[in-house]
Amino acid sequence: MVDLNEIVDSRGSLHIFERFDDIPMDVKRFYILSNLNDEDRGFHAHKELTQIAVCISGSCIIKLDDGHKEIDIKLDTPSKGLIIRPMMWREMRDFSKDCLLLVFADEVYDENDYIRNYENFKSLAQKTDGQ
Ligand code: TYD
Repeated sequence: MVDLNEIVDSRGSLHIFERFDDIPMDVKRFYILSNLNDEDRGFHAHKELTQIAVCISGSCIIKLDDGHKEIDIKLDTPSKGLIIRPMMWREMRDFSKDCLLLVFADEVYDENDYIRNYENFKSLAQKTDGQ
């Protein structure tokens, strides 16, 4: 998780995402997930892409799996971003009605960068670890 800069005063809250020194990521694309319902999403990993997901309204759960272990992370604040590095299987679920998920990506959309089959992902992740 990364903390976004937060400036709060009587007028409201301001959250700032600026290129972090510790994250070598230039944003080339962002997308927004909205009108989410009880259908889970994700079910893929990326070979090269790094993303940062920020839940700017409501809440949801993101499951991350590196091929060895998995962890559920609840996103429910605009003050934190979840870094999703390459070769990380993700599944999103339990979206609140008002959930808005803003996702920053360091590359433009490329379907060839997706791994959409879990077994393929798992064997690739384990091969990469062995190198
Ligand atoms: P996908 O990444 O599979 O959605 P999720 O992981 O949220 O379940 O994307 C859904 C569809 O949208 C898929 O056909 C690819 C397309 N898409 C784009 O064309 N550009 C984009 O930047 C993204 C994220 C998806």
